[in-house]
Amino acid sequence: MFKSKVTLAVTGASGSGYFLRLLKALVEADMQIYLLLSDAAKIVLKTEENEDWPEEVDDLNFFLQNRYQTKEKQIVALTAKDWFSPVASGSSAPDKMIICPCSCGTLASIAQGLSNNLIERSADVILKERGQLIVMPRETPFSTIHLRNMLTLSELGVTVMPLAPGFYHQPQTIADLQDFMVARVMDHLKISHKIGKRWCE
Ligand SMILES: Cc1cc2nc3c(=O)[nH]c(=O)nc-3n(C[C@H](O)[C@H](O)[C@H](O)COP(=O)(O)O)c2cc1C
Repeated sequence: MFKSKVTLAVTGASGSGYFLRLLKALVEADMQIYLLLSDAAKIVLKTEENEDWPEEVDDLNFFLQNRYQTKEKQIVALTAKDWFSPVASGSSAPDKMIICPCSCGTLASIAQGLSNNLIERSADVILKERGQLIVMPRETPFSTIHLRNMLTLSELGVTVMPLAPGFYHQPQTIADLQDFMVARVMDHLKISHKIGKRWCE
């Protein structure tokens, strides 16, 4: 029914516009998306993008289906304690997960295997099943703790892709910067797309 499935988590780091652009790109690529939002992510979405999403998960799913004009269940939003959802178990989870943006708090929890909420548990499942995890942290400067946690994850095969777009494509708008990062994610997931220009194009 869908091309493939992916887990997309959003945490409370700055840069929620990147997430909005990525969600749209994944919908357009006909992916099924299991969507996980932390409480802090909702605050940042409101602060940065004036996005006030429904609190109740059924309302949120209805809202997203209408907003992105998706097929039924193309976006499946889950709560932090939806332990009976596919993403919570290695027997049913997608083999790909992106955390965009990834807070340094969630980064630390994943590096330590805490699994205290569904975002951390989903990432833990990807690690144990040796799937593909992309984390997109944003902080500046990074502390030694942040860097150590990123090294730990990188050594486990995680792609650490900081939200640090290049400028060599001469971006004119914020959307150009968002497109740069989203295109890199799509490339790493091997999802074909026509977002932005490639080097030397
Ligand atoms: C507007 C706003 C911007 C924030 N920006 C960042 C950030 O860029 N990086 C970061 O690691 N945390 C940032 N934080 C702090 C996190 O939201 C906070 O540590 C939170 O506990 C993370 O929880 P979560 O990982 O469950 O989303 C920000 C918080 C707010 C309210």
